[in-house]
Amino acid sequence: MLRRTCAVIAFGWLLCVAPATGAAQDLRKHGEYLFRAAGCATCHTNEKNRGAPLAGGRALKTPFGVFYTPNITPDPETGIGRWSEADFTRALRAGVSPEGQHYYPAFPYPSYARMRDEDVRVLWAYLSKAKPVRRANKPHELLWFVRYRPLLGFWKALFFRPGPYQSRSDRTEIWNRGAYLANAVGHCGECHTPRNLLGGMKERMAMAGTRAGPEGDPIPNITPHKTSGIGRWRESDLMEYFDSGMMPDGDFAGDIMAEVVDNSLRHLTQDDRRAIAGYILSLPPVDNPVRKEKKNTDSDF
Ligand code: HEC
Ligand code: HEC
Repeated sequence: MLRRTCAVIAFGWLLCVAPATGAAQDLRKHGEYLFRAAGCATCHTNEKNRGAPLAGGRALKTPFGVFYTPNITPDPETGIGRWSEADFTRALRAGVSPEGQHYYPAFPYPSYARMRDEDVRVLWAYLSKAKPVRRANKPHELLWFVRYRPLLGFWKALFFRPGPYQSRSDRTEIWNRGAYLANAVGHCGECHTPRNLLGGMKERMAMAGTRAGPEGDPIPNITPHKTSGIGRWRESDLMEYFDSGMMPDGDFAGDIMAEVVDNSLRHLTQDDRRAIAGYILSLPPVDNPVRKEKKNTDSDF
């Protein structure tokens, strides 16, 4: 279609290229937005040790051992520079590497698998244009019984449900947007939903918090339960928290949630923050008291 327009107009270069560049810029912006919302850089950058963006090496401590995130810059030797878009799509959608190996769910593909095709495409367009950085991956340090990757096939059969998010027709568009952002892109449940002994999410306790979250820290219950959840928060409280990290009591988000706010949530549009807040407050309240005691109490413990 573009070529047809260019062929007839003498100064076609301007007329044809300008809109194409605009579209490319929009695609880049969309990609960057999703990339932020999905928090890819948070795990894949070893910020503590001043590692280059997306070059990996961040240690993720879990009950199964320590995972070191891989380099996902387009470096052909040490990163994913030789990957095709199909390889990337398969990694996110199916949790399988180009060599056909299963990924550990420490890479939250069980959530990302719910992303829409178009969003996965846009994400790839953005990631494949990132700055390549040469940095060899560090092997994970896992307990012996989880080292054997083919066993992950059993885990997946039990707990992994592939397929993009399906909008619910009995809910509003904004609710569906919130559900999509929270579950597929923002992967809130990867931290906030408690897991069973095998590391599968307890779906019936979605977002109800856990005493044993990533890094061994307790993760609060964010269902709207009046006493053990965030039932006393208003939608505007949540939106403020996503924007600045400030809680209704004036305290600020700490731990890894500070990173989620800083790297992801505060970069979202106000509409998207509202959508997530509305969705979270619409969840069934679950009574699961996991709250961490405030550090600055006078108690001896
Ligand atoms: C919670 C931390 C975390 C987040 C967030 C995360 N990843 Fe990862 N990612 C990992 C870990 C850990 C692995 C290694 C998994 C394995 O070895 O099985 C990984 C592996 C990968 C791989 C495979 C690399 C290879 O060399 O095989 C790709 C590609 C990838 N992630 C892309 C992404 C993208 C894109 C996003 C954002 C949409 C993202 N990751 C978000 C932790 C994370
Ligand atoms: C990487 C893990 C992680 C992810 C992903 C994550 N959170 Fe959190 N979240 C935490 C931790 C840890 C805290 C406790 C922070 C603190 O101690 O101040 C927290 C706290 C919160 C709180 C405050 C609750 C309270 O009672 O203090 C809300 C609200 C919240 N998260 C919402 C979300 C939403 C919505 C998402 C997805 C968009 C999300 N979180 C994704 C780890 C995570």
